[in-house]
Amino acid sequence: MFDIISIQSCGKMKIKKQSFAFIFSLLLLLPSLQAQLPIESKKAKQERMEWWTQDRFGMFIHWGIYSVAARHEWVKKYERLNNEEYQKYFEIFNPDLYQPQEWAKIAKNAGMKYAVITTKHHDGFCLFDSKYTDYNATNTPIGRDLIQEFVEAFRAEGLKIGFYYSLLDWHHSDYTIDRNHPQSASSIEEYEQLNKGKDMDVYRKYIKDQVREILSNYGKIDIIWLDYSFPGGKHGKGRNDWDSENLLAMVRKLQPEIIVNDRLDLLDIEGGWDFTTPEQYKVSKWPEKNGIKVPWETCQTFSGSWGYYRDEKTWKDNKQLLVLLIESVSKGGNLLLNVGPTARGYIDYRAQDRLADMGEWMKFNSQSIYGCTQAPNDYKTPDNTLLTYNEETNRLYVHLLDYPMKWLSLKGFAGKVKYAQFLHDGSEIKFGKPRHNVTHQEKLGEEEIILILPMVKPNMEIPVIELILE
Ligand code: GLC
Repeated sequence: MFDIISIQSCGKMKIKKQSFAFIFSLLLLLPSLQAQLPIESKKAKQERMEWWTQDRFGMFIHWGIYSVAARHEWVKKYERLNNEEYQKYFEIFNPDLYQPQEWAKIAKNAGMKYAVITTKHHDGFCLFDSKYTDYNATNTPIGRDLIQEFVEAFRAEGLKIGFYYSLLDWHHSDYTIDRNHPQSASSIEEYEQLNKGKDMDVYRKYIKDQVREILSNYGKIDIIWLDYSFPGGKHGKGRNDWDSENLLAMVRKLQPEIIVNDRLDLLDIEGGWDFTTPEQYKVSKWPEKNGIKVPWETCQTFSGSWGYYRDEKTWKDNKQLLVLLIESVSKGGNLLLNVGPTARGYIDYRAQDRLADMGEWMKFNSQSIYGCTQAPNDYKTPDNTLLTYNEETNRLYVHLLDYPMKWLSLKGFAGKVKYAQFLHDGSEIKFGKPRHNVTHQEKLGEEEIILILPMVKPNMEIPVIELILE
């Protein structure tokens, strides 16, 4: 009896010991499988992102061999082109008019403070010289590392440098066919057939090798834009497909100051992203995560597609673009506005015209954008206006989207405003008495003040009133 018990308990002990050893060895293995993302305090993160939060306005640049087709950067997918059919764009790509110094000047004159360029897009083509593929600009007729020139030119103009890198790759032979791929299939069997012999491990290594290249060969990189994840469902791709955590750990190690977007499918992981990226729509309010406001940047096109699209007719006008910028800041966010340079390497006149118009406005009104954010809640936004606020200078900016007729009522402002002026010319705006005529007199509401504006709208697309607060 005694013996049996002892044999049994010995056995249990053994099992326990074995499983403990197993778990322990797993734990030892873990750090090499899943690199730790650096833990950072809220304050440290705020400081790291300080310049970006202040600068508010950046240029997105989508450029690659799809500019030759000139009908969307997804042309390979939309027309289900295979590698051979797409090859002609690679063979003809020769942007002889590429002068990134010009691009940088255009961005700077528009009031933009940083730029994010596609080093590789979904088609797999690289604008940079990579030793891990031949599919890059140095092997096209232009024969140069176009990213190197971009970085030098933009840095020389004092603009911060961001790299976009596509996680998708429709050219790499080990990248498995998924639902977004140009050769996407219609049945599971077909997918299995198409993906036979493809090894995503090889592709995962390729991503790391290339991201290491772009973050090692061009000096300090301020932003990385990794794009994008579409997990779940049939034939999606997400964090396990990219090995997102290890990739991000490498990014943070190589460039500890870098600011990272949120498309690695790591939304639930601490340190897995720095800002969120609402694309091609206006948020209704400052985006939150678990009830806390988060840094955000909306990315937007002029006309719908990101890559140069010759025949697109849906261009936004100057006012829409300015409102996009102002409204983003009024909700605490940034605007990353895209240009798709042509196959010959210059920025199309339609984009240039719009950027010049925005620049004209920014020249006189940028104080209501840089360093500004959402106005404190106690100031009620007057009709047809957008408010922004600079905490440091304690100034509030009222953007007049629809120019009022002489009187502008500011509710909740009484006793809080020291002085009012137009921002563009620094001319005083006087406080007035309630509206009245012979038969009718309006009463001032509690906490309300009235500004008396000139009847004629100043020569600004959107005039701005600067309020110096008490
Ligand atoms: C999407 C599109 C892509 C574009 C990007 C910009 O992910 O696939 O073409 O580069 O949005 O945010």
